[in-house]
Amino acid sequence: HRDLIGIGQLERHEILFLLDEAEQWVTLNRQATKHEDLLAGLTIINAFFENSTRTLLSFEIAGKRLGADVVNMHAAQSSVKKGETLIDTAITLNAMRADAIVIRHGSSGATQLIADKVDCPVLNAGDGQHEHPTQALLDALALRHALRDRGEAADDFTGLTIVICGDILHSRVARSNLLCLQALGATVRLCAPPALMPSGIEAMGAEVYHDFEAALDDADVAMMLRLQTERMSGQFIPSAREYHHLYGLTKKRLANAKPDALVMHPGPMNRGVEIDSEVADLIDRSIITRQVEMGVAIRMAALDVLTRRARGVAGWGDAA
Ligand code: CP
Repeated sequence: HRDLIGIGQLERHEILFLLDEAEQWVTLNRQATKHEDLLAGLTIINAFFENSTRTLLSFEIAGKRLGADVVNMHAAQSSVKKGETLIDTAITLNAMRADAIVIRHGSSGATQLIADKVDCPVLNAGDGQHEHPTQALLDALALRHALRDRGEAADDFTGLTIVICGDILHSRVARSNLLCLQALGATVRLCAPPALMPSGIEAMGAEVYHDFEAALDDADVAMMLRLQTERMSGQFIPSAREYHHLYGLTKKRLANAKPDALVMHPGPMNRGVEIDSEVADLIDRSIITRQVEMGVAIRMAALDVLTRRARGVAGWGDAA
C-alpha cells in the first residue's frame, strides 16, 4: 500500500490526480449528504494526538459519506496519557485491523513512524512542523475553483505569485503549501519576522521577505497563517498587537496586491492578529470557507485512492 505522509513524496502528476479525483466529490457534496458505499465495510481510525476542528471533522465526514465506519481516538482520553509509547499505540491500532489510519501528532516524523509499523495506508493529518498534505491539497483545490469562477484557466498555477505570511518556522501548512504550489507552477513568497523564518528555506525555491508590504506587491494570493505560540519556547514571541502592526492583513495592506487578489487562511484564525475581519469576510476575495468545503472533498478522494489497492481496484501508482 501507499501512505500520504507529505507533498514532498508526491510527483506533480500525483498531486493533479488527487485534485482531479476530488472534483466529483465537490459536485456531489453540494447535492446530498451521502453518496455511495464506495468504502462500505472499511474501518477508518482517526488518531488525533493534537487538537483539531477542521481536519478531524472533515476526515470523519469524508469517511462516512463514502460509507466507511469511522472511529475517532482522541489522545487526551486514550492510554497515551498512561505512558504508552507511540510505537505501542501504533502496534495496538494495527492489531485492530483498520483499513486506513489518519494521524495528527505534535512531533515531526511521528506519522511516518506509525506508517512503518502498520499494515494499512496511513494519512498524515499534520505532524509537528513537518507536513499537512491534505491541507495543501484542499488549498490548491479551493484556489482552482476560485480562479475558475472568474473564468481563468486554473488546472495549475503557472504565472501566479502567492504570498504565505505568518509563523513560517512552525508551520507544516507553509511547508506543504510551498511544495504543492511550486509543483503546480506558482512563485511562492514566504513572509515572516526574521525569528519566525526557517534558515535556509531559500534552498526550497521560496522567495523570502520580512517586509509584508513588499511581499504583497502585485501578488495574486495572500495566504495568512497564525502565530503558533504553542510551539514557541525560548524564542521571540511578538505580542498580538505588534505582530498585527507589522504582519496583520488589513484592507489597506491588501491594496499592495493585485486589485482582485484572493485571501486564504487554513484556520483556525485569530481575527485582529494575522488577519482583520473585514479582510477575512471579503465577499468574492476571501476563500476561507471554500477551503473548508474543499477539505471534505479532498479527504474523500484521499481515502478512496489510498484504499483502492486493498479493495482490489487499480491503486494509486498502478497507473502512473
Ligand atoms: N487547518 C487545520 O488543520 O485546522 P484544524 O487544526 O482545526 O484541523
